[in-house]
Amino acid sequence: MPGLLLDTLNGKRATQVPLWLMRQAGRYLPEYRDLRARKGGFLAMAYDSEAACEITMQPIDRFGFDGAILFSDILIVPHALGQKLEFLAGEGPKLSPPLVDRSLDELTRDPSRYLPIYETVRRCRQRLPEGVTMLGFAGSPWTVATYMIAGEGSHDQHDARALAYRDPEALQVIIDAIVDETIVYLSGQIEAGAEAVQLFDSWAGSLAPDEFERWVIAPNARIVAALTEKHPEVPVIGFPKGSGEKLPAYARETGVKAVGIDETLDPVCIARELPENMPVQGNLDPLLLLAGSDHLEKRVKIILEAFADRPHVFNLGHGIDRRTPIEHVERLIAAVRGWRG
Ligand code: CP3
Repeated sequence: MPGLLLDTLNGKRATQVPLWLMRQAGRYLPEYRDLRARKGGFLAMAYDSEAACEITMQPIDRFGFDGAILFSDILIVPHALGQKLEFLAGEGPKLSPPLVDRSLDELTRDPSRYLPIYETVRRCRQRLPEGVTMLGFAGSPWTVATYMIAGEGSHDQHDARALAYRDPEALQVIIDAIVDETIVYLSGQIEAGAEAVQLFDSWAGSLAPDEFERWVIAPNARIVAALTEKHPEVPVIGFPKGSGEKLPAYARETGVKAVGIDETLDPVCIARELPENMPVQGNLDPLLLLAGSDHLEKRVKIILEAFADRPHVFNLGHGIDRRTPIEHVERLIAAVRGWRG
């Protein structure tokens, strides 16, 4: 049974709009916070297939979303490429050594890091109700590179952007390694049971236009081409957050089946610019869901109407905020499921 979400990603328009939320398995859920208190840190849970599968299933059991996104993180790839990965309380992730002044050759690759992640996918596939789609994911090369180079998050991705101008060949080596690694990792997720995969390019918006072409469009296109050749039946969703007026070029040139749309874009305007019938996903501001004013239902309707003549997956413009009240999520689900286009 393919299910509503998979059908929509494959370009079919159904009477209902499927729904899932980025970061739906996470800290806004009391059952997640309970498990985390018992199990310890984020990374330990991501590598514990039993816990990770349980966390992946929590929002499905509670809300009946149409898709289950693997509980994991985009920084698993740098970990497998040989950087040390730590999540320090209050400081965010740290990768060491940072690649800003070092070569990848100093790192020792360890693809066995992926095995528990594949096991999580396998377990989830067995547990998921019929018709609920299992979603795998990875970070896109540019976004992953920004962390590998700086060794941590930064406001403006300064180190990676400066490297792109100072020594593009050095950045190309890092990007190429991440491309190859991501093809291996996503193929593994698909072979373990992921039915669609999403490429998260959280920092695509920090690049100038010609840089966007080289570091966002080209690497994503290579990943999509390799995956599509091996697994033509598995749709790839591309989410180049913050790409603005460059999103249509991304949609046409990367080969992705569907595109994610962040909250800054006007849904009516962007719908006019994207290829006809290309499935779209996203656009609701996570902070509107957090605030939960009357405006929530109005905005949901505006988005549903703007995308009514193409396949549409309802989602947020970015991950759900961890302070979001459960009742607001319930209101959102009622508004989407109650809509008749
Ligand atoms: O929808 C999804 O769940 C997609 C998967 C995804 C996660 N993180 C899951 C996750 C993606 C695409 C990310 C992106 C990510 N992760 C970035 C890029 C910027 C962005 O926000 O898109 C960065 C820097 C990270 C690293 C990271 N992972 C941080 C800083 C944290 C929070 C610290 C902590 O100790 O919890 C995480 C944890 C994380 N990643 C969770 C999830 C579901 C845990 C739950 C939560 O925070 O609600």
